[in-house]
Amino acid sequence: MTGSRLVSVGTALPDDRLTNADFEAMMETTDEWIVSRTGIRERRVGGTTTGLATDAARQALDRSGVDRDRIDLVVVATQTPDDLCPSTAAGVQHALGLTCGAFDLNAACAGFSYAVVTVHAMLVSGAIRAAVVVGVDRMTAATDYEDRGTAILFGDGAGAVVMTADPAGTVGVRSWDMGTDGGHSDILTSPIKDGTITGVEMDGKILFKHMVGYAVESARAAVERAGIGFDSVRAVLAHQANQRILDAVADRLSVPRDTFVSVIAHTGNTSAASVPLALDAAVGDGRVRSGDTILLTGFGGGLSWASTVAVWQG
Ligand code: UT7
Repeated sequence: MTGSRLVSVGTALPDDRLTNADFEAMMETTDEWIVSRTGIRERRVGGTTTGLATDAARQALDRSGVDRDRIDLVVVATQTPDDLCPSTAAGVQHALGLTCGAFDLNAACAGFSYAVVTVHAMLVSGAIRAAVVVGVDRMTAATDYEDRGTAILFGDGAGAVVMTADPAGTVGVRSWDMGTDGGHSDILTSPIKDGTITGVEMDGKILFKHMVGYAVESARAAVERAGIGFDSVRAVLAHQANQRILDAVADRLSVPRDTFVSVIAHTGNTSAASVPLALDAAVGDGRVRSGDTILLTGFGGGLSWASTVAVWQG
């Protein structure tokens, strides 16, 4: 049976940095509080959603060696598009000189992981031959800088992968899991009031507990369905919401904390971009090499989560 593979990754981060010292000058907070409660030291801010998505997608495409003619789909996961119409994916498609299908997908911070599962299904069915999958968010455009409880969390960025059909079905994506608990959607919202996103509103403590629980369950389900144990997983690329969440999930799964790749110190929470940003870091420093088994896990507003176990083919 045909399978799918992840063959390359690319990223884009804006040049400007917002450090904890900048927040100390802006509001009543301290570097010590932010680092100890979140692990964040700085975030990258600026750019446009379409621009960041295009840069990340271009880098992933260039690194893939896949002929542009074979790209049949662009999927962009975002909750902060520049415009509601056209889709961000349409802008990326055009900027890259592609003529394939293109659409956006919103599953908040789980968006990239949802997009990987969606594209996997389309590759396996034979509907498409190859796709560019982007996770991008400009969270600082939707951040309320009067609210110190959320303002210090978010940054901007994009990450992308190229996925291709694997005719033999012997390498690449091994399993997936996906879910949403809409009954708890009010714990994390970005409401639109009078046409404007007024900022992220959340009950951080309760959200923290739910996110750890869902991430643990989803990661465990995907690994079990792959027929392997966590000891076979070289690296976990999980949503970078809070260093304490990454550590808590690792501890609950009895996985060494450093198996969970962390980039949050220098990116903050970049929502849909965070999983491919972590993947790119791990590939870049050699922690993940071709043939290694990896676990991608996204979780966030919805509340939604999705995981994929794959053998990295980059
Ligand atoms: O990406 C989607 C998923 N997102 C998440 O999963 C986020 C999950 N939640 C979290 O990461 C954490 O709940 C936060 C980092 C948001 C907050 O950390 P916390 O340890 O849960 O803090 P808290 O909200 O309970 O606040 C503790 C104290 C409060 O003061 P009192 O009431 O104890 O006097 C806050 O007012 O810390 C205070 N506080 C701050 N102090 C300094 C809140 N924000 C700040 C701040 N600087 N920036």
